[in-house]
Amino acid sequence: MTKKIIQSKPIFGIEEREALNSYMEQGGWITEFQKTAELEDMITRYTGAKHCFMVNNGTVSLTLSALACGISAGDEVIIPNYTMVATPNSIELIGAKPIFVDVDRETLCIDFDQLKSKYTSKTKAVMLVSANGRHSKSINEIRKFCTEKEIFLIEDAAQSLGSFYPNGKHIGTVGDVGSFSFSPAKIISTGQGGAVVTNNSEIAKKVKYLKDFGRSKGGNDIHEYIGYNFKFTDIQAVIGIEQMKKLDDRIISKKNIYTMYSSLLPNNSNFKIIYNDINYTAPWFIELIAEKRDELMKYLEKNHIGTRPMYPPINKQKAYNETTSLPVSEMIGTKGLWLPSSVDLNEESIQYVVDKIAKFYQ
Ligand SMILES: Cc1ncc(COP(=O)(O)O)c(C=O)c1O
Repeated sequence: MTKKIIQSKPIFGIEEREALNSYMEQGGWITEFQKTAELEDMITRYTGAKHCFMVNNGTVSLTLSALACGISAGDEVIIPNYTMVATPNSIELIGAKPIFVDVDRETLCIDFDQLKSKYTSKTKAVMLVSANGRHSKSINEIRKFCTEKEIFLIEDAAQSLGSFYPNGKHIGTVGDVGSFSFSPAKIISTGQGGAVVTNNSEIAKKVKYLKDFGRSKGGNDIHEYIGYNFKFTDIQAVIGIEQMKKLDDRIISKKNIYTMYSSLLPNNSNFKIIYNDINYTAPWFIELIAEKRDELMKYLEKNHIGTRPMYPPINKQKAYNETTSLPVSEMIGTKGLWLPSSVDLNEESIQYVVDKIAKFYQ
């Protein structure tokens, strides 16, 4: 096999091209308007959330969620130490302080006991990250804890469109507010893009104002609040609408890819695939915890297989530079890698990847 198997890539087809052509022929204004509203409707219907607002990206949607919850400079937000750096950065932007806690070894989601131990009078929110579509085993206790302490639960569901809680609620809709990303590596993409979802009409109202200069409706210059410009574009929405139509098929592909890798790569002393329950989740990426991770990645690269290291522990990144030791996220940072996981990955390619991994450990 000489053509490289890429770790992940966005997939757009003729449907997106034709929809864009027809939109341009109609003389759209490109900026956020009816197509964005149509995409927001599709997302509310799909997730079951009452409100959805499209924004520039999944980082801005977290910042906006935090702002709508009233989080401001000096407030503390509890965040898992295994996540994409956008999660803590989104609140750093408004001067709030991320408090990192370790994650559970099985789900890679926040550890509830450690979360509780970090609560202080300055805590204003918990940002729950659903790693690869999974949810915290303690989700009910976390929800209860946040309600009792009168703090907000913000769900960073960037990796989780198409994944659900066992009770049928979509990931991102159990918190006070949830956030999705449509960056190129996600199950569907608009190039850049994010969505805020909520069932809380007060939060929804604030998000609406905050994302559009604090004005009550488009086009006027009457500003009741301080707001910003976090608007989407209809040209991206046209793509998003076509991508949403493909979501069900992509969920099936993601589940099939996970099932195939898992059956061909049973856990052993050299590696293990992190478990996803595909009854509820559409695994975003295939996560391998591997001995000799860096050598394995180099070996696969030489054999035209793209992989990517899983996120390093955030607290040890130079940007945060903390000394606390959080062992599970540190372990993932040294042993975790993502295998090729694009929705168009075929059986032959998966078999090739699996054979090369077996060969490496022989
Ligand atoms: C958990 C998590 N949060 C936030 C983001 C940021 O999303 P975006 O790249 O759309 O800003 C990502 C992106 O991969 C993510 O995985």
